[in-house]
Amino acid sequence: MYQKRPGVFMADWWDADGRRHRKQFSNAHSAREHEHRETALAHAERASRELKMAKTGGGRRHPKEPNSGTMDAAKGKLGVMIPGMGAVATTFVAGVEAIRKGLAKPIGSLTQMGTVRLGKRTEGRSPKVKEFVPLAGLDDLVFTGWDIFEDNMYEAASNAGVLDYRLLEQLKPFLSSITPRAAVFDHNYVKKIDGPNVKKGKTKMDLAEQLRADIRDFKKTSGVSRLITMWCGSTESYIEPTAAHQSVKAFEKALAENDEMIAPSMIYAYASLMEGVPFANGAPNLTVDLPVMLELSRKNEAPICGKDFKTGQTLMKTVLAPAFKARLLGLSGWYSTNILGNRDGEVLDDPGSFKTKEESKLGVLEHILQPGLYPELYGNMFHKVRINYYPPRGDNKEGWDNIDIFGWLGYPMQIKVDFLCRDSILAAPIVLDLVLFLDLAQRCSDLKGLGIQEWLSFYFKSPMTVPGLYPEHDLFIQLMKLKNTLRHLKGEELITHLGLEYYD
Ligand SMILES: NC(=O)c1ccc[n+]([C@@H]2O[C@H](COP(=O)([O-])OP(=O)(O)OC[C@H]3O[C@@H](n4cnc5c(N)ncnc54)[C@H](O)[C@@H]3O)[C@@H](O)[C@H]2O)c1
Repeated sequence: MYQKRPGVFMADWWDADGRRHRKQFSNAHSAREHEHRETALAHAERASRELKMAKTGGGRRHPKEPNSGTMDAAKGKLGVMIPGMGAVATTFVAGVEAIRKGLAKPIGSLTQMGTVRLGKRTEGRSPKVKEFVPLAGLDDLVFTGWDIFEDNMYEAASNAGVLDYRLLEQLKPFLSSITPRAAVFDHNYVKKIDGPNVKKGKTKMDLAEQLRADIRDFKKTSGVSRLITMWCGSTESYIEPTAAHQSVKAFEKALAENDEMIAPSMIYAYASLMEGVPFANGAPNLTVDLPVMLELSRKNEAPICGKDFKTGQTLMKTVLAPAFKARLLGLSGWYSTNILGNRDGEVLDDPGSFKTKEESKLGVLEHILQPGLYPELYGNMFHKVRINYYPPRGDNKEGWDNIDIFGWLGYPMQIKVDFLCRDSILAAPIVLDLVLFLDLAQRCSDLKGLGIQEWLSFYFKSPMTVPGLYPEHDLFIQLMKLKNTLRHLKGEELITHLGLEYYD
């Protein structure tokens, strides 16, 4: 759904044959409802066709058939470019350096510590992910970034207050050497902060050109062979897609005309994709979740993924909600509240930025519990999410969940979750995995032209999918999807967990 002009809202959907449709409405609610209904119908139609095909055996690849795709080796250095050098970015970069120096372990990172089971349970083949597929090594990562503040990464990490100063002191020379490039920033999109390190340009297209020059400069001066952009910038104010975001042509015209519906994060995404650089979005902003970016990503074979790192409370939600659904336990309400005192918390104190985050957090339960399929269990659930800025806690967020469920004969029960977490400690390994997997995607003939990398949904609160496909939110389905994608790339048998062969 997007707003064409004031008072004109367009439902925008793809039918089961991949044809695009648009219909005009005078309010956002009706347009969104219509789009959801048509999308669900298209999805059901496609699912029933797939079922028919599966029954007749058509279109199915034999599990043993080798994958004909190619996967290039990870040769040379990988440049990691980060718009937003705050708490998450500095915890990630400092962490990589600490691990390289043997000072700490990459806990929480699937690429570094995870394994993939291959073949039957009896075969005992479970290589490490990083040994199974050709990922860039940590020693090959080189960093740069942009921020509206002039602090280098040592100063920014000290201000963020996530990591112990004794660790930071040991990393000081390295972290101090990474200084931010001037940012593309618009105070209207992030109301709570302002800073001096900002680019000037007559039009948004000028700013995009300056970012493209930064990217080329970094590539040349660092000597890297490949690049990745990883948005770790603040959450921008909530907007919905407009006509300006529907194609590259419309977007470029809008850039030249300084269209106010183009947010800074979109300018970074455009610049990266134009330079053929993959882009991951760690915030809930639209950024790359737009037709223009999908078009560019496919054309330039620069994979994209997003949105919004799945770290604390939503991680728990996507573990617990599938358990309720699996056991057919009903849900009458889920109240989630947080206290958070870092700069992210301050930015989210603005209603525009909070709305962006809220949308991202709210979608999860609807998609997992499918109230349309289970109206008696989930048709009446009340879901609320609050984030409260509370400075004394800094980055150490506390997230409470009160969950009202009901069981056999409708008898009510309650579950309370109190997660005293560390936001950036949970986010940093996600950043590392996304950097390494997106780089891998660009080296795989099967993945690089797809645009959206849905197999990376595992890492996001609000995973991107092609239009017309609902996202998978269940953490364990997402993990299976990710590992099966790796098996597929290597021509290994996919694991279905059927397991009848053990009893033959
Ligand atoms: N930490 C988590 O658990 C988590 C989870 C999900 C999403 N996120 C998202 O990740 C992002 C980063 O989180 P954080 O805790 O590091 O926040 P932070 O406030 O510490 O860092 C964000 C940085 O982005 C900079 N920035 C803002 N707009 C910019 C622009 N246009 N160009 C360049 N720099 C810009 C800010 O100056 C700041 O230094 C936020 O959007 C947050 O919502 C974080």
